[in-house]
Parts: sequence; structure tokens; C-alpha cells
Amino acid sequence: MTPTKTLPMIQTVDLSKSYSLGGSTVHALDGVTLAVAAGEFVAVIGSSGSGKSTLMNMLGGLDQPDSGSVIIDGKNVGSLKPRDLAAYRGETLGFVFQQFQLMPRRNALANVMLPLQYRRPGVPDGEARAQAALDAVGLGDRGHHKPTELSGGQQQRVAIARALVGSPSLLLADEPTGALDSRTSAEIMDLLVTLNRNDGLTIVLITHDLEVADYASRVITMSDGKIISDEPRSVEAA
Ligand SMILES: Nc1ncnc2c1ncn2[C@@H]1O[C@H](COP(=O)(O)OP(=O)(O)O)[C@@H](O)[C@H]1O
Ligand SMILES: [Mg+2]
Repeated sequence: MTPTKTLPMIQTVDLSKSYSLGGSTVHALDGVTLAVAAGEFVAVIGSSGSGKSTLMNMLGGLDQPDSGSVIIDGKNVGSLKPRDLAAYRGETLGFVFQQFQLMPRRNALANVMLPLQYRRPGVPDGEARAQAALDAVGLGDRGHHKPTELSGGQQQRVAIARALVGSPSLLLADEPTGALDSRTSAEIMDLLVTLNRNDGLTIVLITHDLEVADYASRVITMSDGKIISDEPRSVEAA
């Protein structure tokens, strides 16, 4: 009996968050209840201001809800002590952002190794693991290039390798193709689909681009802080 295996990777219950601005209240999240199973590839879509990033920040433990709870991989994220929260973020999650957020003075390999440097105890084979992560994103021969010596798509691959180096169970990506042209976006999405299908990586990806959302196996639409639709997609060979 391993009951934890049947728990969803992500479970949010009635998540709410409001902001007060100049006398008016914005319900950034308004009662979001969501379950995502391990191995799913979920796209969250919705217009600007619909609450996508607020939801993502709560899944990532970057922001706290006013009410409701977030349970990820069996951990109640909101009740973790700061040190446990940092360990959770470092060991369970990988993050990918629109603007890559690479360290400009470090080469690709050093950027990918970065998350491992915060591990206690340290990771003795960090360089080999970073190299393996670069290999996995097709940049095994670019480890010594600085970010400025790489294209936008290559920089995002380095950022994905950095997200993968700690062997996360969940990848959170906020508009990962937002700074890329459509052909490069398709390459990045093909990479994410491969990681999901071959390695069973659970992915939650925010996008406002319906073509990008098409790569996911489930699409959640948000509006005014609420989930207004949640649809499986037929997964066809791309
Ligand atoms: N720190 C904040 N202070 C005030 N309002 C915020 C803050 N963060 C988000 N909001 C508001 O909450 C709503 C949802 O924002 P967000 O989650 O960023 O939307 P999305 O990512 O879908 O564009 C928006 O109306 C936004 O202006
Ligand atoms: Mg956003």
C-alpha cells in the first residue's frame, strides 16, 4: 500500500487572494480548486490580469494565499517553515521564466550548476549533472558559451536545463515562449513535450498563446481569478 502514489501532484483547495489598490479590491484568485496528477502537462491560459501568475506564484511557494491551501507532492506549501520551503523549492520544483533569467557573466554550464550550489549537503557530481542536463536539452556542446553568445531559444534551453538539474518532480513555466519567435517557440514546446512524455515530468505552463497551449494535454482557462474551463486535449503526435 503506497497511498501517496494516488495523491495528485498538485492539489489546491479554494485558493483566494485579493489586492487593494486605491480603494478598490482586485480578486487576483477567487476560489481556485485544482488537482493535477503526476505526469500531466497542463497549460493555463487566460487574458492578462486573469490570475495566472498569481496562481503560479502560489504553486511555487513565492506568494501566500489569503485563504485556501496548496498541497504539492504531499507537502502543504503554506505551512512549511522558511528552511523547508527553500528545500521544497530547490528539490521538488523547477522554474522557467519568459526572460530566461540567466546570470550574464556565467557560462551555460555554470548557470545550470547554480541551483545545486545551494544544496545541503553539497552535490559532489554537480558538474556532471549540469552537463547531463545540457545534453538533455540538446546543448551539450555549448557549456562554455556565455548567455550573450547564445540565441534566445538556446538561452531558454539553458534555463530549462537549470530547472531540470535538481531532478524536480514539477516544472512551472510562466510564459516560457513569450520572448521567442514562433519557430523557436515550437522547438521549446517540442522539448517540453519530450520531457513530459519520456521522463514523466509534470508540467504546468502559463501562456496567452493558444498555439503554445495546444502542446499540453490539458488546458485550464482563467478569467477574473476563476477557472472557467478545464479541458483535456487529444494528444496527437506533433
Ligand atoms: N502585487 C500586486 N499588487 C496589486 N495587484 C496585483 C499584484 N499582483 C497581481 N495583481 C493583480 O491581480 C490580478 C491578477 O494578476 P496576475 O496573476 O499577474 O495575472 P496574469 O498573470 O493572468 O496576467 C491583476 O488584476 C493584477 O493587476
Ligand atoms: Mg502573468
